[in-house]
Amino acid sequence: MKIMVVGGGGREHAIIKKVKENKSVTEIFAVPGNGGMKEDATLVPIGAKELDKICEFAKNTGIDYAVVAPDDPLVLGLVDRLEELGIPCFGPRANAAIIEGSKVFSKNLMKKYGIPTAEYEVFESAESALEYVKDCAIPTVVKADGLALGKGVVIAMTRDEAIDAVRSIMEDKKFGASGNRIVIEEFLTGPEVSVLAFTDGITVKPMVSSMDHKRAYDNDEGLNTGGMGTIAPNPYYTPEIAEECMRTIFLPTVEAMNKEGRTFRGCLYFGLMLTPKGPKVIEYNCRFGDPETQVVLPLLESDLLTVMQATTNSTLSECEVCFSEKSACCVIMASGGYPEKYNSGYEISIAPEARASVYVAGAKCEEGKLLTAGGRVLGVTEIADTLGEAIAASYKTVEKISFEGAHYRRDIGARAMKAINGES
Ligand code: AMP
Ligand code: GLY
Repeated sequence: MKIMVVGGGGREHAIIKKVKENKSVTEIFAVPGNGGMKEDATLVPIGAKELDKICEFAKNTGIDYAVVAPDDPLVLGLVDRLEELGIPCFGPRANAAIIEGSKVFSKNLMKKYGIPTAEYEVFESAESALEYVKDCAIPTVVKADGLALGKGVVIAMTRDEAIDAVRSIMEDKKFGASGNRIVIEEFLTGPEVSVLAFTDGITVKPMVSSMDHKRAYDNDEGLNTGGMGTIAPNPYYTPEIAEECMRTIFLPTVEAMNKEGRTFRGCLYFGLMLTPKGPKVIEYNCRFGDPETQVVLPLLESDLLTVMQATTNSTLSECEVCFSEKSACCVIMASGGYPEKYNSGYEISIAPEARASVYVAGAKCEEGKLLTAGGRVLGVTEIADTLGEAIAASYKTVEKISFEGAHYRRDIGARAMKAINGES
């Protein structure tokens, strides 16, 4: 089988490495992929948002199955387009991808179907939002409606910050048309859990839970990033909480989407907060998370391609989805300065024995050398019997990788270890 994976980051590298384990796979095309994936896939230099070119390539190449990983092409309708060409896909159609593409849509969906989430108001003009912010409870959370590279959320700790957030999103159009509408919502507290789930629109099979580390620096300081590391499973996510989430959040969400005529097939990502009043949805994503995927898929014992095809064919109930009992830790190595200004083009050195543990994100290959070419350069994942061992093993492997200015957090998994040791 010829497989096409759309996207070019660490998440896509993790998907490719796992899909490759299926014996019927003859060739994997990464569109566009990155230079660090060359040993695992054929790179196709087409951007993930160039829908016409991707469709032409897929048709001419005789792609048998496509995996659309990033949010943009999903929201733009790449799955719809490929299906029209008769190419089966993993990922939701555009009318279901809106669950991530519009926060107004997802908040209204949760309200309509009684799915627990933060209280909120929607605003279509800066004037009305500023009026509301004048005397709303502080802290508050301001969210751009549309996609904003994961940066469209401002946690305003003061009224002035809330006013600034409204102005920059709605008046200065910091995120373009994504800020034509905003959601202002209640500030929630509690541990965060990411749960990715396979669904074919009928059955929901959650994957092992995980924890992201979004801030740039240790102790959750610094700016928000795309994610500086992950661990799995998330110790806060007990079997009782998992059962509650299935009953109050996962199944109701899939059923709500069906009732709206927007059946969701693919990977539905639940960003949850375990509040004192129970688990609530912070956000939905219509895709695998990055870097959650880099800890979740290495723990998957079932065949990934078979599970993906079952979501496409609506046969997920008959498909086994098993995860290892082990733990995983992924440490992201980023360019110095990320998420703000950083330099690229530095040579990346990876010791041969570390290669199998590396998922490459922001890199390019030039004259046989691997060079940095992005903010998050690569992720290092190790698996072990306990989380403590997985963390130690990941950091040991990190020592075997180097590039100028490399920056990584030293405390990935520290909060989870505290929870395991009963300290928080
Ligand atoms: P998002 O991009 O929606 O994942 O939001 C980014 C981060 O902002 C989340 O991971 C949370 O840490 C935080 N966040 C979002 N919504 C809320 C909320 N209502 N209360 C507290 N923190 C939030
Ligand atoms: N790690 C969060 C995301 O993929 O959106």
